Amino acid sequence: MNQSEVQILISEADLHTRILALAAEIALSMTGETILVIGLCKGAFVFTADLVRALAKLGIRMEIDFMVLASYGAAKESSGVIEVKLDCTIPLAGRRVLLLDDILDTGKTMTHAVAMLRTRGADRIQTAVLLDKPERRTTTFQADFVGFTIPDRFVVGCGIDYAEQYRELPYIGYVV
Ligand code: IMP
Ligand code: MG
Repeated sequence: MNQSEVQILISEADLHTRILALAAEIALSMTGETILVIGLCKGAFVFTADLVRALAKLGIRMEIDFMVLASYGAAKESSGVIEVKLDCTIPLAGRRVLLLDDILDTGKTMTHAVAMLRTRGADRIQTAVLLDKPERRTTTFQADFVGFTIPDRFVVGCGIDYAEQYRELPYIGYVV
C-alpha cells in the first residue's frame, strides 16, 4: 500500500488531543460505577484502544468487550439489515454501557446496536463515535459523544477501512 494515496484530514496529534478531551467529557457524565465499554469491530478497535486508556487516566473503571456486526448490502453503506457476526460475552443485565463506533453515518448500525443492548437488559447505554457525518443521517440517531464532525466524504485510517485496507494508518484521511 502506498500511503501517499491518502490525504490527511485529521492528524495523529489532533486525534490524540481530541480523544483526551472526549474522555474528559465522558468521565464527567460517569458516577463511579464500573462501566462496560463495548467496541464495534472491526472499525472501532483503534478508537476503543485510545479512548479506554484516556478514560483510565481519569480514574474510570471499566470492563471491555467487543461485538462484530455486519450489514448486508452495498459495501459503502449500511443496508439496515444488521447481523451479529461475533457477540460480546460479558452479561449486560443491569450494566451501564458505553458503546463505541468508528463512524456515525446513516445511524442504522448504532440504532440497531442500542436496541439490541437494551433488549438484553443494559441499564443505561451511552454512545460515542470518533467521527460523525450528519449529512448522511437517515435515522434520528444522535451520539452522546462525538469526536469530530466531518463532511460527507469517504474516510480511512484509525481502524477505518476501504476494502480492508488502511485501518493501520495513525491519522484519518481521504483516499485520493
Ligand atoms: P451507519 O449504519 O450507516 O451509520 O454506518 C456506520 C458504518 O458505516 C461505520 O461503522 C463504518 O463501518 C461504515 N462507514 C461509514 N462511512 C464510512 C467511511 O467514510 N469510511 C469507511 N467506512 C464507513
Ligand atoms: Mg463499522
